[in-house]
Amino acid sequence: MDKQPSTSEWQFPPDFLWGAATAAYQIEGAWDADDKGESIWDRFTHTPGNIEDHSTGDVACDHYHRWQDDIALMQALGLRAYRFSIAWPRILPQGRGRVNQVGLDFYSRLVDGLLKAGIKPCVTLYHWDLPQALQDTGGWATRTTAEAFVEYADVLSRHLGDRVSSWITHNEPHVAAFVGYHYGAHAPGLRDAATAVRVAHHLLLSHGWATPVIRGNSPGCEVGIAPNLNHIEPATRKPADIAAARRMEGHIARWFLDPLYGRGYPADMVALYITQNYLPAGMDFVQPGDLETIATPTDFLGLNYYTRSTVIEHPESRAGLAAKGDYPPDVERTEMNWEVYPNGLYWVLNRLYFEYQVPKIYITENGASYSDGPDAAGQVRDARRTRYLREHLIAAHRAIQNGVPLAGYFVWSLLDNFEWAKGYTQRFGIIWVDYETQARTLKDSALWYKDVIARNGVR
Ligand code: FCB
Repeated sequence: MDKQPSTSEWQFPPDFLWGAATAAYQIEGAWDADDKGESIWDRFTHTPGNIEDHSTGDVACDHYHRWQDDIALMQALGLRAYRFSIAWPRILPQGRGRVNQVGLDFYSRLVDGLLKAGIKPCVTLYHWDLPQALQDTGGWATRTTAEAFVEYADVLSRHLGDRVSSWITHNEPHVAAFVGYHYGAHAPGLRDAATAVRVAHHLLLSHGWATPVIRGNSPGCEVGIAPNLNHIEPATRKPADIAAARRMEGHIARWFLDPLYGRGYPADMVALYITQNYLPAGMDFVQPGDLETIATPTDFLGLNYYTRSTVIEHPESRAGLAAKGDYPPDVERTEMNWEVYPNGLYWVLNRLYFEYQVPKIYITENGASYSDGPDAAGQVRDARRTRYLREHLIAAHRAIQNGVPLAGYFVWSLLDNFEWAKGYTQRFGIIWVDYETQARTLKDSALWYKDVIARNGVR
């Protein structure tokens, strides 16, 4: 018989939810199977020049065909929860209107399989793969896409709401809006600041509209949203750098958190956006009632945390914002060039609790890109990833000791996968994927995580 693990040094609360996360476009493949519609990521990756290694998500991890094996792997790790996203164009190939039953059936079987394995399904509705048909009529720059999102949320939650009790409306609305519509680095690849600000509003609005619809279809469920919130700090104590850090923080965090928590859009950022021509027609896209809708109370906030951004003043950069990618020097960085900064997770968690009184938080993403692969014996000795995860969990534990209502942790990612504009050049998985054969190998970090889950704590 297995010996019961002895108590760990950092013991987590009894019902702490241990999970792993993925997103549809990054793992599923089967991009045009079974009547799936085209998404903006299909269009973007099929357009030459957008992806670092010229790859696409056409096949990715082929999870669409291998989901049963993937559930078996999750079960082997003892995962209590699995966060995955739904490809909207599998459900509504044209974005709205005709429902594709085969698409619904795929996710229905996945949910049943998870439940049978004792794993709680946590569904993200929008992890960036908008139906291309909706982009063709303006995408998130229009209110009609926000309306279409509510129809999609309704169809899906009616279908899965009896079995799924945890829903995330949007993954990282800041990235969807600004990286997709302003910086052009993600689909749909547009480069217009004014459009991105409208997009951000419609994402938030659709979240607020969809929340009661999901609750109505999925009694007793929890609904939340998952913004990206890295820790933001000035590079020096010079007033100009401090002001720049405050702007960066306004741009990435407060522009989303303030309206979600009933404060409306932050006045300092509205003023800044006006001077920078982000709001050429003012806030004309905000209609009466929108801010109340966006502030609809949610059950939890999902936090995606990876790194620290260290900011210097740089007048020529976008909106006077600049993060110094190479500062501080001589610190440990992952292969994304992201600084390993666990203490930032502690700060962000505390800040969410004390500043916004968030009632409940899940860390919906946290993880590291390292390319360590199988050695001669087939073992993946990714000690750096294990160290990253361990240090972040210890930081999270400290926040819990401070009273932060942190209820769960989802490692990014279950599998190595298609890392957006970086293609397959980055590996975030705790499971190695051989893209030639689609063979999966548990990395050392996965085995370590299995032990963490079993003992509900970190040694
Ligand atoms: C986040 C995304 C996720 C993954 C990680 C590395 O911004 O939500 O899909 O790409 O970064």
